[in-house]
Amino acid sequence: MNENIKVLIGAEEIAARVKELAAEITRDYEGQPVTLLGTLKGAVIFLADLAREIDLDLEIDFIRVFSYGDKSESSGKVKLEHPFNVDLSQKHIIVVEDIVDIGYTASRLREFLIGLNPASVKLCALLDKPERRKVQGVVIDYLGFTIPDKFVVGYGLDYAQRHRSLPYIGVIQE
Ligand code: IMP
Ligand code: MG
Repeated sequence: MNENIKVLIGAEEIAARVKELAAEITRDYEGQPVTLLGTLKGAVIFLADLAREIDLDLEIDFIRVFSYGDKSESSGKVKLEHPFNVDLSQKHIIVVEDIVDIGYTASRLREFLIGLNPASVKLCALLDKPERRKVQGVVIDYLGFTIPDKFVVGYGLDYAQRHRSLPYIGVIQE
């Protein structure tokens, strides 16, 4: 079923990096409660692993982020839905994202969250494709891996909703 996908980052390498990120977050927020805010659906698997490695008083929340079209590129029109009625005011929020690509999603999310009057907002992204960035000024406070300009799937990331459940990050071979 996945014979045409080439492994870019293996499961063990991901797990090791997730532990390092979690340790960094645990140190930085010592003694403070934190809300991990995952973007649906791409960040679900990353968030699940990250949360279990963080040793803090944690809350978990989700926000639905979608841009028009579900294939390989997000558009500038990012829609947000924050459906669970969680009050984020005065919370220390860490946005957990699968990947920062063009940068629309991250910047739109930050703008939205600042409007909810939180105590702080930081961004944790598993992957970054800096060559593709068009929105300047996106700061990734906690980054898993920088990758080249290739479309990747697995570990939560999809191509038209497929391949999210792969335990590694891979590139679909043409
Ligand atoms: P941005 O708004 O272009 O930064 O897009 C970020 C979103 O685009 C991510 O949350 C993903 O849903 C999607 N995306 C960007 N690059 C990839 C990729 O290589 N594989 C899967 N999804 C991607
Ligand atoms: Mg997606």
